[in-house]
Amino acid sequence: MAVNRDKKEPVIEVQDICKTYFMPGGMSQSVLKHVSFDVMPGEFVAIMGHSGSGKSTLMNILGCLDRPTSGVYKLAGKSVSDKTDAELAEIRGREIGFVFQNFNLLMKRTIADNVSLPLIYQGVSEAERHERAVQMLHKVQLNGYEDRLPTQISGGMQQRVAIARALINNPKIIFADEPTGNLDSKTSDEIMDLFTALNKQGITIVLVTHEDDVADYAERMIKIGDGRKVYDGLRAEYQKDEE
Ligand SMILES: Nc1ncnc2c1ncn2[C@@H]1O[C@H](COP(=O)(O)OP(=O)(O)O)[C@@H](O)[C@H]1O
Ligand SMILES: [Mg+2]
Repeated sequence: MAVNRDKKEPVIEVQDICKTYFMPGGMSQSVLKHVSFDVMPGEFVAIMGHSGSGKSTLMNILGCLDRPTSGVYKLAGKSVSDKTDAELAEIRGREIGFVFQNFNLLMKRTIADNVSLPLIYQGVSEAERHERAVQMLHKVQLNGYEDRLPTQISGGMQQRVAIARALINNPKIIFADEPTGNLDSKTSDEIMDLFTALNKQGITIVLVTHEDDVADYAERMIKIGDGRKVYDGLRAEYQKDEE
């Protein structure tokens, strides 16, 4: 039987997603409104939008940290909407790496311990955890730093540790929410070069940023305005005065 090996399935399918936050006292806020898009394997997508537009809310749904109020979200072809919290945690551990603005490192643990932390939940032995941490630190050019503490290295290096931690399970996708938000522009460029290299190796990257220079590294841009998708196309074709 002939198989068309070029035919790829989307790795992310967002279908008419809405998210409403319900506050105590009966108040509610509609934050995402009928958002739909697909992401194909190997894409590099920047999600942009003003502060408060719903970017982190969308990322939390994409990363299975939160659920939509309505609509369907499929990751790797499977609907995550009706999965249990335990199943979502399992999907997160297997398919996804996260990078955050504030690095989210354990400050009293060594860099190797921080990188190998996700493996603890899989019952990987201490010796193997250390070996894999050393391999990942090599990928982010931090070989030799495994026994230091996060407080002993720069912010850019801390973010590279966080990226090494995100890579430890060989994820298909990396979600990064404002990963350069706490870094100077030269260090931001180094981090973005690292994401570009990982993307060239086949990892799908979805990154939230409000900085134009950072978004320029992505091929595709999705812009969120007041909870709605207001642009979805090539970053290079985006006209900053449209909207
Ligand atoms: N857990 C929450 N409960 C209630 N409101 C929230 C919660 N998280 C975010 N919001 C509100 O949703 C809106 C969008 O927030 P967010 O997704 O963080 O936007 P962005 O990342 O684009 O700045 C904001 O008005 C914010 O106050
Ligand atoms: Mg945010």
